Amino acid sequence: MDKVNLKAEAVKAMANAYSPYSRFKVGAAVLTEAGHIFSGCNVENISFGLTTCAERNAIAQAIVSEGPGMKLREVFVTNHNEIGVAGACSPCGACRQVLAEFSSPSTIVHYPGETGDIETTAEKLLPDSFRF
Ligand code: THU
Repeated sequence: MDKVNLKAEAVKAMANAYSPYSRFKVGAAVLTEAGHIFSGCNVENISFGLTTCAERNAIAQAIVSEGPGMKLREVFVTNHNEIGVAGACSPCGACRQVLAEFSSPSTIVHYPGETGDIETTAEKLLPDSFRF
């Protein structure tokens, strides 16, 4: 997958973020093993704990379209704060666990670091993730 295209889809989704409380927009795009791209943005709620992150919304879109066998090949996360500046933002703990659920050892994750995008794997983001 062209990294630029996947990032472009994450940026496009970020524009639709519903984040009136944090004023922090996040976008995510996922490329599935089947070769399709799905995207998501963060959707906040006045009852703050009901907020859903961009990564989990993108994954939910992929499951809705491809079904329960969906596996992630590559993920791109991006963000923009209230003054329109992108900053470092690694996937939160909840998203790491959900990424782990639908990833293989080779699933690549890109996210904004302090000095540019970081490329890692879902496995490295949450080693020894919970399973039973
Ligand atoms: N957020 C995400 O969308 N993904 C993450 O991995 C971390 C946080 C969102 C949730 C909330 O709307 C905003 O960023 C600030 O926490």
